Amino acid sequence: MNLIVTGGCGFIGANFIHYWLEKHAEDLIVNVDACTYAAVKASLDDLEAQPDKYKFEKADIADYDAIDAIVKKYAIDIIVNFAAESHNSNSILNPTSFYRTNVLGAQNLMEVTRNNPGVKRLHHISTCEVFGDMALDSETAFTEESPLGGNSPYSSSKAGSNLAANAYFKTFGIPITVSVCSNNYGPYQFPEKLIPLFVTNLIQNRQITLYRESDHKREWLHVRDHCRAIELILENGEMGNVYNIGSGVEKSVEDIAQVILDYFGKSDADKIYVPSRPSHDRRYLLDSAKIRSALGWAPEVAFDDGIRSTIEWYIQHEQWWKPLLTKRISTEQNWQVRK
Ligand SMILES: NC(=O)c1ccc[n+]([C@@H]2O[C@H](COP(=O)([O-])OP(=O)(O)OC[C@H]3O[C@@H](n4cnc5c(N)ncnc54)[C@H](O)[C@@H]3O)[C@@H](O)[C@H]2O)c1
Repeated sequence: MNLIVTGGCGFIGANFIHYWLEKHAEDLIVNVDACTYAAVKASLDDLEAQPDKYKFEKADIADYDAIDAIVKKYAIDIIVNFAAESHNSNSILNPTSFYRTNVLGAQNLMEVTRNNPGVKRLHHISTCEVFGDMALDSETAFTEESPLGGNSPYSSSKAGSNLAANAYFKTFGIPITVSVCSNNYGPYQFPEKLIPLFVTNLIQNRQITLYRESDHKREWLHVRDHCRAIELILENGEMGNVYNIGSGVEKSVEDIAQVILDYFGKSDADKIYVPSRPSHDRRYLLDSAKIRSALGWAPEVAFDDGIRSTIEWYIQHEQWWKPLLTKRISTEQNWQVRK
């Protein structure tokens, strides 16, 4: 089978390509990435020597002609869309790029799928943030039927892509599935995101920066468990369906900081607090009963093991993340909300 993986130079896309080719050695993956600041081609260096399994095409998912030509050139069967502007903080600094890629880029892939009957499935990757903010003491979780929300340009643009997927299924009948996942952690994550940011700061003997509302919680899933869930959806997921993917393991930002500080033998003196960014949601928790019962998925990586192996990966791969530090855009401070 021939697959396009968009955004394969990003965190989850790169993990997915490695995972898929480990399990499906006979397949060809074409990684389509626009190479924004968040792209790290080095994450896939080991595959460059295997052109029968892996190809790279630099292209923008919002460019119809480019994507259509790649689909035809490789006789693509499946498209998995990871490409996105993905950092909430950057979405406050440059919202336009988020709506362009996350809404119009995703819709463009749907349009290409509509016009290429050889494409048997488009799978779109979305996020728990599309359901909006949840109270810290809420006793319910977001199901696939919860109303869409989205308080930042990032989360609202991803919600827009979920709506487009629904419309393209209902109106044009394209073969599409959507997954909505909680926060991922693991290797190859750009060191602007919480866990690699804390770890790489502490490796360099720098302090870690927390928002003042550090009791805000996220549900954490190891990226390999996410990849396995996507594999199950590609194999058995029902067209037109949305699948939530979450571990049920919630940790506050303060909890995450503590685990990482403890690992490095550091203390509270290594924490500094800054004002939260605007539209900083308190919590998202997914009800993942549907994928568990319909597709038999369950997370396999325990949080304590996953976080330890992730910290150790960054310790062992300094040559991977060091060159990325100067590419980061947001400083998590001095938000300019109105120009
Ligand atoms: N990281 C998480 O915890 C998480 C959780 C749930 C869902 N998601 C979703 O998973 C997907 C992947 O997230 P990630 O953390 O790997 O992101 P990332 O920022 O690490 O990678 C995104 C990749 O997309 C590429 N890209 C951006 N704009 C593009 C465009 N217009 N055309 C082609 N390529 C483009 C970038 O160059 C980069 O390689 C996103 O859709 C995100 O919304 C992420």
